[in-house]
Amino acid sequence: MKKTFPNHAMRWSEVKRPIVCLAPMDGVTNSAYRQIVRSLNRDVFLFSEFTSVDGLVQNEFLRSRMDYNPCEHPFFMQLFGNSPEKFAEASRMVEDRGIWGVDINMGCPSKKIVHSQHGSALMKDTDTACRIIESIRNACKLEVSVKTRLGWTDHKNLINFAKSLESAGASMLTIHGRTYNQAFKGQAYWEPIYELKKHLSIPLIGNGDVRDYNDGMKRLGNLDGFMIGRAAIGNPWCFQDRRKYPLPTHFQRIEVALEHFYLFRSFKKEIVAVKEFRKYLGSYVNGFRNAKEWRNRLMQCQDENSFVRCMKEIQLLEPPLALAG
Ligand SMILES: Cc1cc2nc3c(=O)[nH]c(=O)nc-3n(C[C@H](O)[C@H](O)[C@H](O)COP(=O)(O)O)c2cc1C
Repeated sequence: MKKTFPNHAMRWSEVKRPIVCLAPMDGVTNSAYRQIVRSLNRDVFLFSEFTSVDGLVQNEFLRSRMDYNPCEHPFFMQLFGNSPEKFAEASRMVEDRGIWGVDINMGCPSKKIVHSQHGSALMKDTDTACRIIESIRNACKLEVSVKTRLGWTDHKNLINFAKSLESAGASMLTIHGRTYNQAFKGQAYWEPIYELKKHLSIPLIGNGDVRDYNDGMKRLGNLDGFMIGRAAIGNPWCFQDRRKYPLPTHFQRIEVALEHFYLFRSFKKEIVAVKEFRKYLGSYVNGFRNAKEWRNRLMQCQDENSFVRCMKEIQLLEPPLALAG
């Protein structure tokens, strides 16, 4: 029977260029943060935190990872694992939730993940990597993308590996310009990604060390888009074209940080929310006149009231200047 494409989905090949993406980041790109990024950037493609297919299939609690607000679209669910059957089952759940597409993690270098033959380990097992893609393609109508790295210790196999993924049915690839061995060390190397583009027909996204939209545009070269990870933590403005949008004032930064906090808080217990929100704070107050002092005070807050009071104090006391650079 001929497959019909679901209304809520899209085709990567038809998306307007450049394709600008918020990178999947565990513990960071949850629904609250994706909503904040969306509120400031209509066109950015949002990726979830990576989520285990075994977990999704077996554990009801983990299925809340598929919860999202409709404003998040276009939103993609990133999955990790190594069983083609579990990927198929998890992808059907993702499709049933109305999520736009599935992204497969083939780049996570964490020891625990790699020892289970997940994440980066799939770069060494092209056969399983391709079977996973085929299995998802057969199980649902969503498009399948893959996020991976240059290679294990070097980029010698990148073109072969990527071409195999394309032949198996991947409809978009993101390459983080580091090897498994590098993990997050050293600089991202984009040359092999530009070279790879000459060998693929599907869209190719570059990732690694992009500071903001304008930096991404400088690196774009022959690629279809770029993805921003660490620079986006606590800086949802990094996706804006600075030639069109002024930098946010300090007042606006705190306003958005508070909005983010209230959303984040709506998913968590008070103390958990206050503690976990700390990871975003450093960047929200980056460049403030008394940034160090504010950061220290905010990090010590143990409840919502003191946290919100401190944020409002910062908003009143900091001169409302735009950040430079
Ligand atoms: C806190 C954190 C969590 C991450 N979690 C994921 C993840 O769940 N899935 C994934 O593919 N990459 C993950 N990454 C890697 C990023 O998506 C990205 O590839 C990497 O940070 C390089 O891009 P950047 O230099 O723009 O940060 C994570 C990175 C960080 C810093």
